[in-house]
Amino acid sequence: MIFSRIAGTGAYLPERVVTNEELARTLDTSDEWIRSRTGIRQRHIAADGQSASDLAVHAARAALEAAGVSAGEVDLIVLATSTPDQVFPSTACLLQARLGITGCPAFDVQAVCSGFVYALGIADSFIRGGRCRCALVVGAEVFSRILDWTERSTAVLFGDGAGAVVLRAAASPGILGSVLHADGSQAGILSVPGSLCRGSIAGSPFVQMDGPAVFKFAVRVLDEVARETLRQCELDTSAIDWLIPHQANLRILEATARRLGIDTGRLVVTVDRPANTSAASVPLALDEAVRDGRIRSGQRVMLEGVGGGFTWGAVLVQM
Ligand code: UT7
Repeated sequence: MIFSRIAGTGAYLPERVVTNEELARTLDTSDEWIRSRTGIRQRHIAADGQSASDLAVHAARAALEAAGVSAGEVDLIVLATSTPDQVFPSTACLLQARLGITGCPAFDVQAVCSGFVYALGIADSFIRGGRCRCALVVGAEVFSRILDWTERSTAVLFGDGAGAVVLRAAASPGILGSVLHADGSQAGILSVPGSLCRGSIAGSPFVQMDGPAVFKFAVRVLDEVARETLRQCELDTSAIDWLIPHQANLRILEATARRLGIDTGRLVVTVDRPANTSAASVPLALDEAVRDGRIRSGQRVMLEGVGGGFTWGAVLVQM
């Protein structure tokens, strides 16, 4: 049997840091409100002209280096983003060119904040099916481009960034199980409704969100999908060494850990600094906890995504 295993992780955050205080100078908000409702202290914002593929290339190179893999060995690129460089070609193809490789399949996955978990599940299926042996899986976002910076209910929540993993074929797992879900009937609670139409934008090009509805949905499905993934692996919650849910809001993270009966000491939290980076949030948190030595070889990590669509999913990984 062929399994897939994470061989290396990488991440990149743009240089510019924007604090809550800085936002409070132009928006009717405060550091106290943002911290107490979300846990966010600051976010990184891409420079003018810096695109998702610019962030992705840094994260991808860091993951390749950590894995000890050359770009030429990559035979699949799956990139999760809702803020692609352009309508087409895909950001995955642009990344492939930046890495100086040709030939392997490269495509984007659009599952908003569940994007990385979707991409990882897809890449795992490709490897287990024998269709590739070394996949680059990336989450990269410039959400700052689709925020209405005059709208306090969304502008304070998001940031830009990229995270990546190298997934290699292996004789033992690796990825122990993965579950993906979507419910398109809930599309309206989190969306960017705009589209390109005859040379202009039809509809709003900005994030629209019913915050409390998304909050409730997220807490419920993050609990359910973690349990479903554990059942698939015939394990229980005690098997989870580290829990990495999508980093949207500290209150959602803590509620998820509580519902799963997981001590908050086993919860990886990064939302305070990069804020919500959508598809980049899970690989950014994973990379941080791997590099600072919290996540060690052999430990089991539950990665979870939830976001627009509505989409949600989980991947249980043995590192
Ligand atoms: O990544 C995709 C997934 N996204 C999420 O998971 C986000 C999920 N939702 C949330 O994290 C929370 O619902 C929010 C952080 C977005 C909002 O927190 P909340 O506790 O649900 O607040 P609320 O939306 O019920 O708003 C409470 C009050 C309102 O004022 P009134 O009507 O009570 O007078 C808002 O107008 O807070 C006000 N408010 C703000 N005040 C200061 C909303 N945004 C702000 C703000 N600063 N930035």
